[in-house]
Amino acid sequence: MLRDKSLIPLSRQHQHALALCVRIDRASPITDAERVAWQAEITQVFQAEITIHFMAEEALIFPTARKFQDLIPLVEELLADHARLRETFAKAQAGEMSPADLLAFAQEMSAHIRKEERQLFERMQELMNAEELAGLGHDLEEALKDAAQACALPAHATALRPAK
Ligand SMILES: [Fe+2]
Ligand SMILES: [Fe+2]
Repeated sequence: MLRDKSLIPLSRQHQHALALCVRIDRASPITDAERVAWQAEITQVFQAEITIHFMAEEALIFPTARKFQDLIPLVEELLADHARLRETFAKAQAGEMSPADLLAFAQEMSAHIRKEERQLFERMQELMNAEELAGLGHDLEEALKDAAQACALPAHATALRPAK
């Protein structure tokens, strides 16, 4: 099924993350020196795109999907994936990933994305009408835009924080 336009911003981010997973997979076996560069790249991608992506899915996609009984177990599984992947990102940031961890990350991340694309998004497009999808698309656009602005202005945001 063609991806509905409401879900395209998330699908585009899936493509970016998948491209990274494929590159890690092809780079194997990864040496100790390369390990450092991969962890830096994973950390950068996580901060630039994935944090926002996970938040948008958890705030908008998963609660919408949960309204359909048959999607509840899948949403639970996807939430557990997010928790595990967040731990992996923390490990990358701390520079603690082994070459085996990097490969495992690439596999887990691509499996997670495939579940969202082939099962969750497909099923949501079947279950939701055009109006509901458009509403979700609008909310997603706002969430991704707000997050992008918040990320673009970290100094400003910090400056606005009231003094203790
Ligand atoms: Fe996800
Ligand atoms: Fe996703």
